[in-house]
Amino acid sequence: MSLAERGRRARAIEQAAAVVEACRKCGIGSTRTHSVYGEGDPCAAIMVVGEGPGETEDRLGRPFVGRAGELLDKMLAAIDLAREDVFICNTVKCRPTLDDGQRLRNRAPDPQEMKNCRPYLDLQIDIIRPRIILALGAPAAKSFMGEKFSITKGRGQWFEGPAGIATIATFHPAYILRQTGGELSAMKRLVFADLKAVRAKLDEPLPVIEAAIVQDSLF
Ligand code: URA
Repeated sequence: MSLAERGRRARAIEQAAAVVEACRKCGIGSTRTHSVYGEGDPCAAIMVVGEGPGETEDRLGRPFVGRAGELLDKMLAAIDLAREDVFICNTVKCRPTLDDGQRLRNRAPDPQEMKNCRPYLDLQIDIIRPRIILALGAPAAKSFMGEKFSITKGRGQWFEGPAGIATIATFHPAYILRQTGGELSAMKRLVFADLKAVRAKLDEPLPVIEAAIVQDSLF
């Protein structure tokens, strides 16, 4: 990727992040501390899409920096990738919370919040144009593969996602962290198989036309 193209994408991301920061389409736009646009390589071949920011992410304004993020880093390392090699974001950019009277608790994003935030995710995909989307957990996977998608049945399989991008789902790291004993080992085996599928797809030679585009943008 040429330096000029990298710069263009970085600027586009900065502008889009400013629009997200100003967004108040949902109630959670006002309860959040920071919006969490996403971060990583603007020319990444892989976009990792989680559910929504949690408490630590909300405090720091960065995706996957809590316990689930530590596990995500390890998952990426298992297939020889660092978080800087990919672009990490979420289906919603503000932390969905539930006020229990004592404190704000994390919750899953509701359908309206996901709908409101979808144009921001679509624009991210459009700017970064990844070769692969890795959806973490059922909400992210369903947002690409449809409501009927079952994470237990459909994980590890390739689907045609937005703009025809090869899309695959695996279990969310926070869900993996809730498993124990034999269930944890079994889940780790499944997730590693899914990650190896991502690695294999990444290592496939680029189709001739895409290779020519990459070649053209070198100089
Ligand atoms: N879980 C998510 O889905 N996204 C984050 O950014 C952090 C935890």
